[in-house]
Amino acid sequence: MKQISRREFLHFAGGVTFLALAPNGQGLFAATEADARLPLFTVLPYIQPGSASKLKENDDTLVVAWQTEDAAADFTVAYGLSKKYGQIAVPIQGARAIGDAAVSGDAALKRRNYNAALTGLKLGRKYYYQVQGKGKVIAEGYATTRQPRGRKIRFVAFGDNSNGDVSDHRIAYQAYVAKPDFVMNTGDNVYQSGLDREYAKFFFPIYDATTAGPELGAPLLRSVPFYTVLANHDVTGRDAIGREAGDFTKHSDALAYYTAMHLPMNGPAQPADSTPTVCADPAVLAQFQACAGDRFPRMANYSFDNGDAHFLCLDANAYVDPTSPALQAWIEQDLADTDAHWKFVVYHQPAFNVGQEHYKEQHMRALSPIFEKHGVDIVLNGHEHTYQRTMPIQFEPTDLTNASHTATRDRIVPGKLTIDREFDGKEKTLPRGIIHVTTGAGGNALYEPEFTDSPDRWVFTDGPENHFVSKFYSREHSLSVIEIDGRALTLRQINEFGKEIDRIRVTKA
Ligand SMILES: [Fe+2]
Repeated sequence: MKQISRREFLHFAGGVTFLALAPNGQGLFAATEADARLPLFTVLPYIQPGSASKLKENDDTLVVAWQTEDAAADFTVAYGLSKKYGQIAVPIQGARAIGDAAVSGDAALKRRNYNAALTGLKLGRKYYYQVQGKGKVIAEGYATTRQPRGRKIRFVAFGDNSNGDVSDHRIAYQAYVAKPDFVMNTGDNVYQSGLDREYAKFFFPIYDATTAGPELGAPLLRSVPFYTVLANHDVTGRDAIGREAGDFTKHSDALAYYTAMHLPMNGPAQPADSTPTVCADPAVLAQFQACAGDRFPRMANYSFDNGDAHFLCLDANAYVDPTSPALQAWIEQDLADTDAHWKFVVYHQPAFNVGQEHYKEQHMRALSPIFEKHGVDIVLNGHEHTYQRTMPIQFEPTDLTNASHTATRDRIVPGKLTIDREFDGKEKTLPRGIIHVTTGAGGNALYEPEFTDSPDRWVFTDGPENHFVSKFYSREHSLSVIEIDGRALTLRQINEFGKEIDRIRVTKA
């Protein structure tokens, strides 16, 4: 396994320090000087991509966000192209309750979220930031904006991760070792219910650990933007008609996706199938909405570019009807409107996989014709806690009835599958069709490890037309490391111990 030298560590972590904060037990960080009168920090400052979608010089964004106990304090963020900083951003803040709404005392427990938007940024440049509070420097670090067209990029992708297992830490460490420009999470980022307190416990301490190590996690989030998509574990309640829903009646801190994340804001302002909510106390929902601002419900779908690639990120939860004309019109426009060489689509529930658990959740197959029409190269998914890579495939649905049934998980979509069996990712690198990559082995308990060595089991229903999976690996956890250099792409699957378990090269004519 490749170890990181101290010099590399300091270089990549940017020497990011939390100068005026020290661990205070139970995931809290306190000011080191008694007179600083700063609230306890529950989440240390972290980087998010912010609202920008298309690549525009002098118009890129980053967000510096953090969370404290609910006590007032004045913070500012200084930033700039050098440690002279020069620009100041004043954070927006919003408090919301955490804990179980039904448990006495929990509802009074609040957390205050801060986010400072750094705007008007140049592309492909390193920006330094410094969080200041009550005249003290709390933290300083750096992050790099998105690369312009023509520049190489490298990113990591994984899903189904943060649940407290040691494997989460290993994957976070491998992600860090890969030195990515950004992380693309494929959903089920936080277990069990997408709650704020689960983010504070299982996500931030691992993906923004102070020290990098296979069993410690890594200091990623303080300098690397992290994208994710909505998934079923973000919405574990049920609404009155049986759909998955953010359940505020049970948990005051449901749907933390919309308050912890700051992702591009170019999706439909009111999605055709918005994330449903259940809430007995309107005050709790109002707090959430004030904290999320216009990110809820808009941030369910978004797209962005980086280097020569375009990424379309979609909510594929059970309440979404992918045959919706409004959703399809937005997707068509988004994909038609980019001149990127490479097009990725990212959503959680895989349309094409051969696992036993989620095979029938095929509703996103309804979008295959649109994706093919616009030259989508790779679809990234999670949900199945395995690694599965399909052959390049084209799919023509013949009956969309089940795809539009939103309150069920039995959504088989029949149709005609055309499989490119010549592509091998080594000699034959020009695919005819879309490669679907399920990379849901990011930390939670693996499914079907015994399939790894039995290619005859890489099929759900027998028949040659159903043999579309080229590689299935589930012996250990893993993540995808994807590099794009002009008209060539390399996808490597790396296991939790740093070993390469799959590699393909994809090229364009
Ligand atoms: Fe899932």
